[in-house]
Amino acid sequence: MALPQLSWLLLLLLLAGHAPRTLSCPRGCRCYSLAVECGSIALREIPSGVPPLIQTFFLQDNAIGQIRQWDLSALGQLRYLYLQNNSISALEPGAFRGQAQLLELALNRNRIHLLSADTFQGLEHLRILYLSGNQITRLQDHTFRCLQRLQELHLQENSVEVLGQEALVGLSSLALLDLSRNSLRTLQQGSLRPY
Ligand SMILES: *[C@@H]1O[C@H](CO)[C@@H](O)[C@H](O)[C@H]1NC(C)=O
Repeated sequence: MALPQLSWLLLLLLLAGHAPRTLSCPRGCRCYSLAVECGSIALREIPSGVPPLIQTFFLQDNAIGQIRQWDLSALGQLRYLYLQNNSISALEPGAFRGQAQLLELALNRNRIHLLSADTFQGLEHLRILYLSGNQITRLQDHTFRCLQRLQELHLQENSVEVLGQEALVGLSSLALLDLSRNSLRTLQQGSLRPY
């Protein structure tokens, strides 16, 4: 008699233990121990209530229009962030300020046209940045100055006409720069220098 009661008790305890984890997964997403998968669910903004210790966040193929300063601020352990194929046109200055561990950031196939020196502030460990397939027309001086560890910068399929003379300043680890399929006509002397 005591044994079935004990297993019911265990079952209840297990269920109770799992409940908080289920609650902290945003609707429509799938949450794993270190990753959250929210691709292709028509999101219009980055969901809140994501487990704060995740390292990988999939948000591709949605309709997210902007990244605001507080959208990612609780996620200080992120290594990989995938936002390709959304509708992002605005990146608030400092939107990535809390992402010091991020290694890979995919923003390709969005509607970004403006990048400023504050856009990538805080991404001191970033190694790969995908920005291809956006609407970037000019790369201003010091845009990437915070990205000392960046190894790959993908900027193909934009409309870049102007590369500021100090646009690439700070990119001291860069090994690959893809500017193919843009509208560059002239390169000023020294504009490919990382210092
Ligand atoms: C981009 O995302 C939309 C959904 O928002 C999807 O229908 C489309 O297939 C995606 N495009 C590609 C090339 O994956």
